[in-house]
Amino acid sequence: MSSKLIAPSVLAADFANLQRDIDMVNKSEADWFHIDIMDGVFVPNISFGMPVLQAIAKHAKKTIDVHLMIVDPDRYIKTFADLGSDILTVHYEACTHLHRTLQAIKSEGMKAGVALNPHTSISLLEDTINDIDLVCLMSVNPGFGGQSFIENTYNKVRQLKALIERKGASTLIEIDGGVTNKNAKALVEAGADVLVAGSYVFKSENQPETIKSLKALANS
Ligand code: DX5
Ligand code: ZN
Repeated sequence: MSSKLIAPSVLAADFANLQRDIDMVNKSEADWFHIDIMDGVFVPNISFGMPVLQAIAKHAKKTIDVHLMIVDPDRYIKTFADLGSDILTVHYEACTHLHRTLQAIKSEGMKAGVALNPHTSISLLEDTINDIDLVCLMSVNPGFGGQSFIENTYNKVRQLKALIERKGASTLIEIDGGVTNKNAKALVEAGADVLVAGSYVFKSENQPETIKSLKALANS
């Protein structure tokens, strides 16, 4: 079994000490940087934009996993590639021509991800799963950090895992929202490969230790 990955969500970092927090992740056992881009239209919140991502990318030494919570993401695919994104995830609910969007992301040299809101059924990925490198299952309604985990996520992880196996796809399953030491192990047991954690990591006393213990739990 390949090792399970931890992706701290920079949304919960201290923006006045961003370089310090990025260095903490660099030195920790975390695997990826999860970067949330919100436009105030697709979700009721605005996070940060290109200059901040550029500053993060300058210091980040690990995979940059960008989660776009924006309408019409096609407009910015090249921009995010140029800014250093390794993985670019768009929302199913924001894409009229998802297949085309996935090809456009890959043609810019990035891995292509699709995020599903809590109400969006796994079955809608039946015809695209073989084109998707990563599915990000939202375990909260997107827009804010620090919300509580939606329990139905476990069912969705199991359904998605079954779809991936049935189709012979190599898609990774990422869980985003409300991840803590209380649900990490059960999520991995259900089929998750990547756990995003924002508040649980950045609001903790000893952040590297929290990452380390979450990673150990996910791989136990
Ligand atoms: C929510 C974002 C998440 C968020 C997770 O819209 O997509 O990545 O930062 O934060 P926590 O782990 O605090 O729920
Ligand atoms: Zn996210």
